[in-house]
Amino acid sequence: MKRYQLRIDGQAVDPAAGVWFDTQNPFTGEAWAEIPRADAQDVDRAVQAAHRALNAGPWAEMSASQRGMLLHRLGDLITRDAAKLAATEVRDNGKLLAEMLGQLNYIPQWFYYYGGLADKIQGTTLPLDKKGYFAFTRNEPVGVVAAITPWNSPLMLASWKIAPALAAGCTIVVKPSEFTSASTLEFAALFDEAGFPPGVFNVVTGFGHEVGTPLVEHPLVRKISFTGSDVTGRVINEKAARHFKHTAMELGGKSANIVFADADVEQAVFGAISGIFAATGQTCIAGSRLLVQGSIYDSFVEKLLAVARTARMGDPMDPATQVGPVTTPPQLAKVLDYIEVARQEGATLLLGGQRGEGPACGNGWFVQPTIFGDVDNNMRIAQEEVFGPVLSIIRFTDEADAVRIANDVRFGLAAAVWTSDIGRALRMSEKLQAGTVWVNTYRAISYLAPFGGYKDSGLGRENGIDAIREYLQVKSVWINSGAVAGNPFVMR
Ligand code: NAI
Ligand code: MG
Repeated sequence: MKRYQLRIDGQAVDPAAGVWFDTQNPFTGEAWAEIPRADAQDVDRAVQAAHRALNAGPWAEMSASQRGMLLHRLGDLITRDAAKLAATEVRDNGKLLAEMLGQLNYIPQWFYYYGGLADKIQGTTLPLDKKGYFAFTRNEPVGVVAAITPWNSPLMLASWKIAPALAAGCTIVVKPSEFTSASTLEFAALFDEAGFPPGVFNVVTGFGHEVGTPLVEHPLVRKISFTGSDVTGRVINEKAARHFKHTAMELGGKSANIVFADADVEQAVFGAISGIFAATGQTCIAGSRLLVQGSIYDSFVEKLLAVARTARMGDPMDPATQVGPVTTPPQLAKVLDYIEVARQEGATLLLGGQRGEGPACGNGWFVQPTIFGDVDNNMRIAQEEVFGPVLSIIRFTDEADAVRIANDVRFGLAAAVWTSDIGRALRMSEKLQAGTVWVNTYRAISYLAPFGGYKDSGLGRENGIDAIREYLQVKSVWINSGAVAGNPFVMR
């Protein structure tokens, strides 16, 4: 079995305690690699290295343009290794090779975009109201960044943090999910190859309470950028608040995919399917609530079922597979529990509802694509994030009713509207409480479109120009160019 090492201060190193744990392949159920089980000692080493690199040495001295060049070089190396990194991700999280390869081929754009942005972040001169002074602002890196990432799209979600953080001049310690650490450890080697100085990029792996907690609490960490569950996000944000650390939180969702009677039905059916069954529903932007206008409800559901029934479960490495396993055994249990909850709440099971088994599923952790109809928005299945291939269909009457239902959850990550009426599309996009609204499409993302949550879906934005501000702090510099002190005991 392959044994991985931590990445600290530009070196591949063993964990201080000399302990590893197994990571499993969700399709075979078998352990395939050993991941370092780091602890607070390793965290301290990594954060100290990041702190040293931030404050002295080549990274601290480098111009923004030089940082941008390094990010570009890294992007090229990711392109070179995309297939290998994607295969590692599939082995570890069970998502389709087509999806992970698509992500790996797209990730370089984040490094090109933020690499290009690095030397375009300018301070301003201030049109001061006081005579005899000149003043300007500097944008400085916020400090050592801790990036804590989940298992569903390990490298893409890490890159959303790493690219702007490094462009801003920060240094970083990444803690990937204990279920999918391998790709981030392989990725780390590319930073040295690209020429990043030691300590700029570090990876510590292990469990939330053993590695995540000391990382969040380390006094030299100034910013925590987290993607994962709202439960863990709340714990981290409370700890960070005690020390006035900056945070960015990308949390869960219960996104509404809203189909009006005037929609292109075939496109809307595809959108509904990709919203919930792509990535086996393990995506924060899953369109887990499908709101269908009453006048087309029955015919739409029939067409949806006709397509959903053809979904092929199987080996995620096989190009013919459409639905892969869920990533972890606890996730399998959680999804099956929610299916039981929905049944007990009185939702009508229209498709699936069981663990996926059979020759095509190997020993994998599969859940059949599952659809519940006649769901009431107050049911738990409509309010809580399942993070699996489980769709809840809810009926609505008109625009106002759709808005009311869509917004009646504590999350607000994304929403979609399917309609041929441009006025309706604009009215709905204004009223929906979500960080992203799609019209006649679903699950589209880009490095240049701000992404983040309203309400309990999070704090801050990733992607786009302004995301670099998440990693900067502003300093005002005052220069006396001729003002004479008057009364020294009174403010100037
Ligand atoms: P999690 O939110 O607990 O884990 C995310 C990351 O946080 C992992 O790297 C984990 O090790 C770390 N972590 C856990 N506890 C920590 C702590 N106290 N301090 C610092 N770091 C800590 O998510 P988990 O357990 O992997 O999945 C549970 C549920 O979270 C899923 O069923 C799903 O509903 C949701 N989830 C949502 C994601 C999203 O993108 N919105 C992604 C992954 C999971
Ligand atoms: Mg795994």
